[in-house]
Amino acid sequence: MDDFTLAKRPLDASQSTPKPNWPDDDEALLELSHDGKNCPPENYWCLKDAFEGVQIFGATGSGKSSGSGQAIARAFMESNLGGLVLTAKSDEVLSWRRYAQAAGRESDLLIVEPGGPHRFNFLRYEFKRPGTGAGHTENLVNLFCSVLEAAERKQGQGGGQDAYWQRTLKQLLRNAIDLAVLALDDIDLPSLYRIITSAPRSVEEAENPDWKKVSACAALLEVAAGRAHEKGRSSDFELTRDFWMREFPSLAPETRSVIVSTFTSMADCFLRGLLRDLFCTDLTFGPEDCFKGRVILLNLPVKEFNELGQFAQVLFKFIWQRAVERRISAGTSREAAQAAARPVFLWADESQFFVNSYDALFQSTARSSRACTVYLTQNLPSYFSAFGGQNARSDAESFLGNLQTKIFHANGDPNTNNWASDSIGKTRQAQFYGGLSEALAKGGAMNQSAGGSMVVEYVVQPQEFTMLRTGGAESNFLADAIIFQGGRRWLGMKKGEPVAQNHIRHSFPQRY
Ligand SMILES: Nc1ncnc2c1ncn2[C@@H]1O[C@H](COP(=O)(O)OP(=O)(O)O)[C@@H](O)[C@H]1O
Ligand SMILES: [Mg+2]
Repeated sequence: MDDFTLAKRPLDASQSTPKPNWPDDDEALLELSHDGKNCPPENYWCLKDAFEGVQIFGATGSGKSSGSGQAIARAFMESNLGGLVLTAKSDEVLSWRRYAQAAGRESDLLIVEPGGPHRFNFLRYEFKRPGTGAGHTENLVNLFCSVLEAAERKQGQGGGQDAYWQRTLKQLLRNAIDLAVLALDDIDLPSLYRIITSAPRSVEEAENPDWKKVSACAALLEVAAGRAHEKGRSSDFELTRDFWMREFPSLAPETRSVIVSTFTSMADCFLRGLLRDLFCTDLTFGPEDCFKGRVILLNLPVKEFNELGQFAQVLFKFIWQRAVERRISAGTSREAAQAAARPVFLWADESQFFVNSYDALFQSTARSSRACTVYLTQNLPSYFSAFGGQNARSDAESFLGNLQTKIFHANGDPNTNNWASDSIGKTRQAQFYGGLSEALAKGGAMNQSAGGSMVVEYVVQPQEFTMLRTGGAESNFLADAIIFQGGRRWLGMKKGEPVAQNHIRHSFPQRY
């Protein structure tokens, strides 16, 4: 800033822009060192690295959560980031309370749980939220689909490979939403449910006066007809009416029953019990709270609440990701964003429960939306089964390609260990040999030989990942990890000399 602009700044401090209470993008969040003591600036791990995403791998009990996970979580809390924490285990809320307390931020923690004060009526939020695109049918359709993707996987049907089936389901949702909005000017899950379950199942039924008398779908179509005309939305209405009166009843009965039951089995979970209370009644918080420094923790651990916990968290995650993506308007300079937009994080331990196809898309713009994704899971196969379907492996690998920092803790899974070694790469190493030739054994003249050749070897052998320390008293409460970050040069040590390398070893403390 030059003197001229300084002179023009208001003298009254209350009018000047407050300094952000989060670090600059290139300030150290973690200091990583090969020897546990000295960390050169080359090895700082900063916000700009965090924006590129983190994936932590390690067998159960390898020190993911208490080692590298804890270190990053504490750094985020100390740096005043906002965030969303998804939970799989019931002890995670305790860990986060500890991290918040250590950073003096207990009041920033917003814990969503049964019996608690916080409610998030997701349909009301999506329909009434600020920002362009609010209330648009397509947003709601995509929201349902992201939850359904998780639901299907649970039922082992594979990740929605069938394009026709997906299209038909989307069409069903789109028309149900449009009908509710046209008729009621609002939208709630019970209305969608009633529309879909009372729709005609044959062209004859659609014409039957008895059906018309009892069907919510028929009643809403009648209300919508009048309202659409008043609002000048007659053509929208006609599309919706044609779908419900002609297309839907003409679908093959098997197709219809599959898409209807896909929707109803998911909707059922939200229409009763605790999910109804938490997600279909009031609206007391939203993703925007994170932008002001709140850390939302969804205390509906999957291991306790099963698919209810999973659906609810995947649903909120999707809404949160969309809110984060739209918070910084296009054309905002990096400097302006850095000064005004608080970094936020998305945290999922046991991330195999929460990962879905939207994550790769979200991560691709995470740097400009200043969002740090941190996922922890055991191994690659846990992601393969999470993505499901024929392309599971390539989907999982392309998703992982978007999370640049990979932290490998101890692991016995050869898939993961080979993949880690492959990512770090190979090097040409000299291999020496020496010995007596066969001639001697055959009683001929002695022929001693020695020599060497160049062989291509892994820089880090796959078996090294099986030998990392996992924490606990026997390893001084230190959990070892090998960290790889695409395109990054770290400063390591080789034979007492500093060397640039693409990975670094670090031991994370479990106790603070
Ligand atoms: N604060 C702690 N102090 C000592 N040991 C711990 C602490 N937290 C976890 N452990 C132990 O360290 C090992 C790694 O734990 P954890 O981080 O939970 O593994 P992971 O998340 O990879 O499953 C386990 O044996 C666990 O019992
Ligand atoms: Mg863990």
